[in-house]
Amino acid sequence: MRNNIVYRGSEKFVYEIREIVAIAQKVQEMGVPVIWENIGDPVEKGEQVPDWIKQYVIDAVSDNQSYSYSPSKGLLKAREYIAYERNIEGGIQITPDDILFFNGLGDAISMIYRNLNSKARIIGPNPAYPTHSSSEAAHADSPYITYTLNPYNGWRPDLEEMEQKIKANLSISGILMINPDNPTGFVYEVDVMKQIVDLARKYNLFIISDEIYSNLTYGDLEYKKLAAVIEDVPGIGMRGISKEFPWPGARCGWIEFYNREKDENFRRYTQALINSKMLEVCSTSLPQSVIPFVMSDPRYYPYVEKRCRAYKKKAEIAHHHFSKIPELAVNMPHGAFYMSIIFKEGVLTNRQALFIENEEARNFITDILAKEKFLDRRFTYNLLGSTGICVIPLTSGFNSSYHGFRLTLLEPDELKFAKIIERICQAIKAYIAS
Ligand SMILES: Cc1ncc(COP(=O)(O)O)c(C=O)c1O
Repeated sequence: MRNNIVYRGSEKFVYEIREIVAIAQKVQEMGVPVIWENIGDPVEKGEQVPDWIKQYVIDAVSDNQSYSYSPSKGLLKAREYIAYERNIEGGIQITPDDILFFNGLGDAISMIYRNLNSKARIIGPNPAYPTHSSSEAAHADSPYITYTLNPYNGWRPDLEEMEQKIKANLSISGILMINPDNPTGFVYEVDVMKQIVDLARKYNLFIISDEIYSNLTYGDLEYKKLAAVIEDVPGIGMRGISKEFPWPGARCGWIEFYNREKDENFRRYTQALINSKMLEVCSTSLPQSVIPFVMSDPRYYPYVEKRCRAYKKKAEIAHHHFSKIPELAVNMPHGAFYMSIIFKEGVLTNRQALFIENEEARNFITDILAKEKFLDRRFTYNLLGSTGICVIPLTSGFNSSYHGFRLTLLEPDELKFAKIIERICQAIKAYIAS
C-alpha cells in the first residue's frame, strides 16, 4: 500500500470467545467430540424460544411495515414501551427521546467508544467482556485501564484501587460496570453502586452500565439497574434482547441516556452518538416492533424467572463441585449465565499436561502449546484435547490478571451439565497433579 491503511488501534481487537472455536473445530474434525461451553448463546445450546414469542415474530413478519426503515433512534412504540417500563421501576425518569436503538449491543459498544475523544478513557472491570475492553483500548490505542473484581472477595470491585486510578489518571472520564457481569456472574450490590455513583459525582465522570443480563438474576442479592441509583450523575444504560428473549440473531439492543442535560459536554457526546446512528439510517426494524408485545405479555416475566431458576440450579451444582478443589477460588454467580473459576496463585505451571488419547489431536495441541505463554490457556487447550470440553481462558479471553476459565450455565439437561462439571473437576485434579 502507498500509505499505511491499518487503523492504529486495530491489533487491540481480540475476541477469544470466537477465536477458540476455530481450534475446537479442528480438534472436532480430528475425531474428538466437542462440548461447546464457550459461547453465550442460549439458543445454540438448545434452549427453546416459546411458541407465543415466535407467534409475535410471525405476526411481525406478515406485516408489510416490518420491511421498512425505522426512525434512526428506533421505532417510537418500542422506545415508548421501554421508557414506560423504566419509569415505573422508579429512579431516574426518561422519555422515548433518551433511547437509541442499535444492531445488537455489540454495535452500541463499538459506537460508544468510537465516538469518544481518543484522550478520554473509561475505566472498566478486570476481568472484562472483551467487546468493551478491546473497543476501549482500540479507541485510545493504549492498554485498557482496569479496576479489579476480586475473586477472593466474592468478585466485589476494589473501590479504593478504582479511586486511586481515577485520581492518578486525569484522562479517565467514565466508569464501566457490566451488571450482572460477564464473565463472572457477579451482581454489583446496591451500596457498591452508590459508592461508584459518588465517585463519578466527585470526579465529574459519567457511568456506563451494560445491563444486557439485567432480567437474568437469581442470587440472594438485591439487583438494581443503574437508573435506580444514578440520581444526578450523567450515565448510559445498555440493554438488549439477545439474552433475554433469547434472540441473539435479531441483532437488537438499545442504550438509555440519563441526565443528558445536566452536563453540556456529556450532552454533546450523546448527540454525536445520535448523529452517528443517523448516518447509518437506522437499526433492524422487525425485532424492535415485537418488543412491546413480548415484554408486556403476562407470560414474559414468569418465563424469564423460570429460566433463572434453572441457571441458579446449575450454578449451585457447579459451585458444589468446584468448591471441593482447594487450589481453586470459586464464587457463586448471582446473574447472567456464566461462572469464572480461578486457579490460586502458583497452582499452574508450564509443565502440566493432560493425556490426549487421539493422536492427531495430541500432536496438534502439542504444537500449539509449544508457543503458548498463558498458563490458563495451556490448561484450556489440554482440557479441549483430552475431554473435548471447550471453555475460555480468562487472561487472554477476558483481559484478566487472574488465571482461570469461564464456562456457561446454558446446558439445558441438568444431568448432562453435572457430568460435564465432574469431568472438568477430574481434569483439573489430574492436571494439577501431573
Ligand atoms: C456483557 C455483554 N454485553 C454485550 C453483549 C453483546 O450483545 P448483543 O448480542 O446485543 O450484541 C454481550 C454478548 O455476549 C455481553 O455478554
